[in-house]
Amino acid sequence: MFDVAVIGAGAAGMMCAALAGQRGRRVVLIDHATKLAEKIRISGGGRCNFTNKDAGPANYVSANPHFCRSALSRYTPADFLALMARYRLGWHEKHRGQLFCDESSDAIIRMLKSECDIGHVEWRMPCSVESVVQQENGFLLQTSSGPIRAKSLVIATGGLSIPAIGATDFGFKLARQFGLKIIEPRPALVPLTFDSASWTPFAPLAGVALEVDIRTGAGKTGMHFKEDLLFTHRGLSGPAVLQISTYWNPGQPIQINLLPGVNLAEALLTAKPGNRQQVGSVLAGLLPRRLAEQWLSADVAGVGADFAAQRIADVSDKSLRKLADSLQNWQVVPSGTEGYKKAEVTRGGVDTKALDQQTMAARSVPGLHFIGESVDVTGWLGGYNFQWAWASASACAQAV
Ligand code: FDA
Repeated sequence: MFDVAVIGAGAAGMMCAALAGQRGRRVVLIDHATKLAEKIRISGGGRCNFTNKDAGPANYVSANPHFCRSALSRYTPADFLALMARYRLGWHEKHRGQLFCDESSDAIIRMLKSECDIGHVEWRMPCSVESVVQQENGFLLQTSSGPIRAKSLVIATGGLSIPAIGATDFGFKLARQFGLKIIEPRPALVPLTFDSASWTPFAPLAGVALEVDIRTGAGKTGMHFKEDLLFTHRGLSGPAVLQISTYWNPGQPIQINLLPGVNLAEALLTAKPGNRQQVGSVLAGLLPRRLAEQWLSADVAGVGADFAAQRIADVSDKSLRKLADSLQNWQVVPSGTEGYKKAEVTRGGVDTKALDQQTMAARSVPGLHFIGESVDVTGWLGGYNFQWAWASASACAQAV
């Protein structure tokens, strides 16, 4: 009989198993994959953006935005940095508080594995869990490595993104088996797509990248980011779009300002008097040339297909304002996303109303805990999702 069985040896599962083991608990860690922690390995372009030094509840999306507060405050980015310091792992900050490994992501995997060894964690990997039943003094798991009994059961099987490296809906199915509600899972931090007819004018822009202001929704449910956007053959990507995708709901429009920080109408009207330059040249001085040329030749603004070639001095103020508005208040309605194949995370998951925020335990099922991405807490792009994995794992490990 184990004290704790943890299913899922990813970021949250390894951290929880290690810390519980180091508290003297007898822990077994189960994973169906053949390779350990593939998501950590591929994260951050292979250098694992392991936390964000500014992480706080405002950087997370959840049906209950306050749920993550307690765990995040009890295991902070500084705690993870202290752990890395013990292993002499170097790190560097990229923009906006994002902390990356100096070495490859493997260093983080090795560190977590060593922490598990210190906690005398027993491994069952690769091992699939066929059934889970609750018994008087804990749980009985039937697995491909035989039956496993444990007093507490921790589900750390993550979300649905990247099925090719082992993501499954195990956690959601198990939650339902025990009568817990699931907030509808959706791909998040994911490129947005458009139907091919509406995207025809923009498809030639594939590869163009620029900083934009992007927003969706309004009021309390609205959100905006100032980040880089990337045009692709099928739609929009880049950090700005990945960030907003978490807040986007199907059918909703997205507003994009392609020239933030500049009043484009004013800039064009100021440039106009006596200016013999073509509109196309003036615009190409303000935006990436390919974007300016395609915007005008596809006549996105509805000012006429020959507008680019006209002298700016000769065109009407109204047309210049219309052009500026099309670029600074560009409204698009994505038809969908690139899906779980490309999504960095899953939005939604086990409803936090069913869980205790101090311990991650299901209130109605003593001994059953959910941590990491399986829970309805989704972080922004930039290290926030790993910070949630570490923090929720630590909160749980103190309680099992
Ligand atoms: P995680 O997915 O890490 O682990 C789940 C484990 O459960 C896996 O080992 C899996 O094999 C196992 N499992 C699943 N189903 C099972 C079953 N039925 N039986 C047994 N085992 C099962 N975040 C961040 O903060 N910074 C970053 O740089 C990145 N970069 C990044 C890049 C890419 C390409 C992706 C896809 C994701 C990121 N992320 C990220 C997100 C981050 O990887 C993610 O949020 C965490 O890994 C979640 O940790 P978990 O432990 O909850 O799940």
